[in-house]
Amino acid sequence: MRIVSGLQSSGGLHLGNWVGAVRQFVRLQDSGEALYFIADLHALTTVRDGARARTLSFETAASLLALGIDPARAALFRQSDVPEVLELYWILGTLVPLAHLERAHAYKDKVARGLAADFGLFAYPVLMAADILLYGADLVPVGRDQIQHVEFARDWATRFNIAWPPGVLKLPELRVDREAAVLPGIDGLKMSRSYGNSIELFAEESEVRRRIQSVKTDSTPLEAPKPVGSALYELLRAIAPPGEFASIDESWREGGTGYGAYKEQLAAFFFAAFGEARRRYAALIDDPAAVERALLSGAQRARDAAAPIIAAVRRAVGL
Ligand code: ADP
Ligand code: TRP
Repeated sequence: MRIVSGLQSSGGLHLGNWVGAVRQFVRLQDSGEALYFIADLHALTTVRDGARARTLSFETAASLLALGIDPARAALFRQSDVPEVLELYWILGTLVPLAHLERAHAYKDKVARGLAADFGLFAYPVLMAADILLYGADLVPVGRDQIQHVEFARDWATRFNIAWPPGVLKLPELRVDREAAVLPGIDGLKMSRSYGNSIELFAEESEVRRRIQSVKTDSTPLEAPKPVGSALYELLRAIAPPGEFASIDESWREGGTGYGAYKEQLAAFFFAAFGEARRRYAALIDDPAAVERALLSGAQRARDAAAPIIAAVRRAVGL
C-alpha cells in the first residue's frame, strides 16, 4: 500500500497540525510505503520571500523528522525536488472544470473576505491532485479541511481515465483520523497559523507557556463546574496521555479546580508529549546536512515511484 501526504511549509507546525495531520503520518509509516513531502510549491501562494521560504522548508523538514517521520521507513522529500509533479499538474488542469475550482474552500474564503486571489491559489487543488496521483497513492491521510481536495483528486483521476486510456491514474482513498476533531486555538477559533492563535510545537519554552497562559477562559468561579467543549477543555483532551483525561473530565464537570491549575496541567502535558521531539528538533537545526541528506534520498525514492506513472501519462495523452 502506498501512502502519500504533504504539509505546506508556510510557518512553524502547531498543535492543530499535529493532531489533524502529522500524528497520522507517523502512525501510518509502518502500514505501507509512505511518501511524505514538504509542499514548498504550495507555500509560494503565501510566502513571498525566497530566504524565508527556504528556511521554512528546512524547518518543516526538521519538524517532521523530530516528530518521528523516520527516513529509513518513509520517504521524506521536498515537493519541488520532483518536478514531474508540475507536468502532471498542467495535464490534469486541461480537464478540471472551472466550476470545481470556484467552489474550492481556500479560494472561495479569500474571495468572500474581499481579498484579491491569484492564479496560484485558484489552481492550488490541481497541484495537490497532481501530488497525489503522480505517485499512484492508495491512501491519503489528511486533516478535515483537506477532504474536499482529495475528493477533487479522485474526481479528476476518473475524468482522466475516461478521457484517455483507462487505468493510468489510480483513485486514492482518503483517511481522516476519527479521533481528531478540529482543534481550537487559544482564542477558541480553529487553530491556524493565519489567525495568530496557535501553539507552535517548536517555539521557545517561554513562548509556549505564554500562549498556554493566554488560552481564553470565561469567568466561571473556581468552585463551579466548567463549560465542556471550551478551548482549554479541547486542548487538554487532545494532548492528555491516554487514560489521564478521564479524571480531568470528571473534575471539570464537578468544579473545585480553577482554570490556572488546568493551564499548568496543559503545559505539563505539552512538555511531556513534545519534550523529546523538541530536543531532536534542536539537534537537527544544528545539523542541516543531515536533514538535507534525508530529503535528497527521499526525493530519489519519490522520483522512482513517479517515473512509471508520468511515463504512462505522457504516452496516454500523446506527448
Ligand atoms: P494552517 O491552517 O495553520 O495554515 P494548514 O492549512 O497548513 O494549517 O494545515 C496543515 C494540516 O494540518 C492539514 O492537514 C490540516 O487539516 C491540519 N490542521 C490544521 N489546523 C488544524 C486544526 N486546528 N485542527 C486539526 N487539524 C488541523
Ligand atoms: N494542502 C495541504 C496542506 O494544507 C498540503 C498538501 C499539498 C497535501 N499537497 C498534498 C496534502 C497532497 C495531502 C496530499 O498542508
